[in-house]
Amino acid sequence: MEFAYRNGALCAELVLLEDIARRFGTPCYVYSRASIERQYGEFAQALAGRSALVAYSVKANSNLAVLALMARLGAGFDIVSGGELARVLAAGGDPRRTLFSGVGKTEDEIARALEAGILCLNLESEGELQRVSAVAARLGKRAPIAFRVNPEVDAKTHPYISTGLRQSKFGVPYAEAESLYREASRIAQVEVVGIGCHIGSLMTGGGPFIDAAARILALTDRLGGGGIRLAHIDLGGGFGIRYRDESQAPIGEFLDGALGVLAGRKERLIVDPGRSIVGNAGALLTRVEYLKPGEVKNFLVVDAAMNDLIRPVLYGAWHEVLPAREPESVVGAAVYDVVGPVCESADFLAKDRALAARPGDLLAVMSAGAYAMAMSSNYNTRPRAAEVMVAGDQAHLVRRRETVPELFAGESIPTW
Ligand code: LLP
Repeated sequence: MEFAYRNGALCAELVLLEDIARRFGTPCYVYSRASIERQYGEFAQALAGRSALVAYSVKANSNLAVLALMARLGAGFDIVSGGELARVLAAGGDPRRTLFSGVGKTEDEIARALEAGILCLNLESEGELQRVSAVAARLGKRAPIAFRVNPEVDAKTHPYISTGLRQSKFGVPYAEAESLYREASRIAQVEVVGIGCHIGSLMTGGGPFIDAAARILALTDRLGGGGIRLAHIDLGGGFGIRYRDESQAPIGEFLDGALGVLAGRKERLIVDPGRSIVGNAGALLTRVEYLKPGEVKNFLVVDAAMNDLIRPVLYGAWHEVLPAREPESVVGAAVYDVVGPVCESADFLAKDRALAARPGDLLAVMSAGAYAMAMSSNYNTRPRAAEVMVAGDQAHLVRRRETVPELFAGESIPTW
């Protein structure tokens, strides 16, 4: 919606992508502020009038400008590392609206989270409960905790991003949750405040999400019966977006379903969406370097690569590729694999796309706001891309491109 052709030129809001590429170079990520605001608004609207918190999942896109925008909109944060905590604090996010998930929190990370005064640590094992109580005792604090419980519901999504199955490394088994809560309730250094789950990412429909909500609520009731009352229920994220032409349930359908399950309940409802807020708010700009026609395949070699956007390679993900200038006709189009300069056969951004492109042309790889820059690397000693946020007719550089010397600034050669 915020990315559209105006007079034949692809724009982010009111700014021409070609202007951004000229000003900041390529590859370059572009985000639309209005798009992020609209998506957050959908959550806020669906949850209006209920005690609820939208905790933006920082891992999807952790640029400080995105985090500061989310904080300004009133969002909380779902974090998975001490690094993400530092980002939230640097962006002016509220630690009291921040939840810390993840299977492998270190002592140091737990300590920093407690010192910052976060809302809740989502624990994923008995060992972690012991560690958290020890750290809390050392700091003379009481740690607010929840368990991330595996509701054993199949999210019906890609196996790499499905987390609610029994064989998953995430969460504590449903059958063991009650005894863990009882154990936690006897430990003075922890305060049991909630329960959490997250069954997977990129769900296309609300069914599994609502099933998980029902399972978590049943457990919450059993805990309440045993005198363990919880202040919040965190149902995770995982709301999909449309990358291509998939059928995708709107946010309201997921949330209305969960609100139905929770009707009349006092617990605060927490959700931690990532992709659905930023995914379609971003595009990756890249220039065509070479056309490489072949007997069985034509390649369009561009200046972005798998180190910039790994989703196509890692998950077989499909991202739309649009020319920055709207083609007037399909004359001259050929079918290409869009590939980068990285030395891997797996280095592709898109396969079998009909494009009429020439060297120097600008392309936009769409739906690249989530798990794109956040998963980028320096493989092949490639500096990471610049990031730009557009607001109306303004384009702000929100992360400058890395320079090559920065990439090895931390390295040293021993004096053998
Ligand atoms: N909450 C928890 C506990 C999570 O583990 C995740 C994502 C989320 C929330 C946010 O999920 P979302 O609303 O963004 O679907 N790199 C993959 C996605 C990995 C998701 C990991 N966990 C991709 O590019 O598709």
